[in-house]
Amino acid sequence: MAASEGFGSWRHLAGRFFGALSPAGPPPEDEAWALGSLLDGEKQLWYRMSGPDQRHAVGVARDTLRFLEPDEAPPEVVTAALLHDVGKVEAQLGTFARVGVTLAALAVGRARLLHWAGSGPPAAVPSPSEASAPSGPLRSSRRARVGMYLSHDALGAQLLRQAGSRELTILWAREHHLEPARWTVDARLGAALKAADGD
Ligand SMILES: [Fe+2]
Ligand SMILES: [Fe+2]
Repeated sequence: MAASEGFGSWRHLAGRFFGALSPAGPPPEDEAWALGSLLDGEKQLWYRMSGPDQRHAVGVARDTLRFLEPDEAPPEVVTAALLHDVGKVEAQLGTFARVGVTLAALAVGRARLLHWAGSGPPAAVPSPSEASAPSGPLRSSRRARVGMYLSHDALGAQLLRQAGSRELTILWAREHHLEPARWTVDARLGAALKAADGD
């Protein structure tokens, strides 16, 4: 397993950085297409995502469909692509802070950075009754936000479960930074989603 434990790559980081320099969201036709694949609760999460994150999500969703034959792509694979990074909304980190965190994760490893941030590595898809996102003073601290950014996979799965998302959407949010051997999602769908993410 890489030092970053599947969290980011130099190529992905560069692409996301330059893409994030513009705060604009996706074109209206792309957003309408995306919203057509989201449940009501998921739309509320979509509106919390930043413009660059929404553009990234649409790009991943469209590329995922390109990597699958039409009869191989269930509707929820688009939703899974659109919302795989939704947990980042909890961290509320700007572009430069995200770059710093990703560089640090690549340099020292995600687990060590999580330890510094006071968060343990996520272990499983949380149920609604399990751990919730930090709140109060902790939530506003920089370390806590770094921890939430590094845990955006588990946080996203939690948000999606609360939103009533389908299983593939929840699981892919949780597993999109894991090695393929640890996926529980369909390997063919996971491979397409991962390739489209470029991470
Ligand atoms: Fe991610
Ligand atoms: Fe992504």
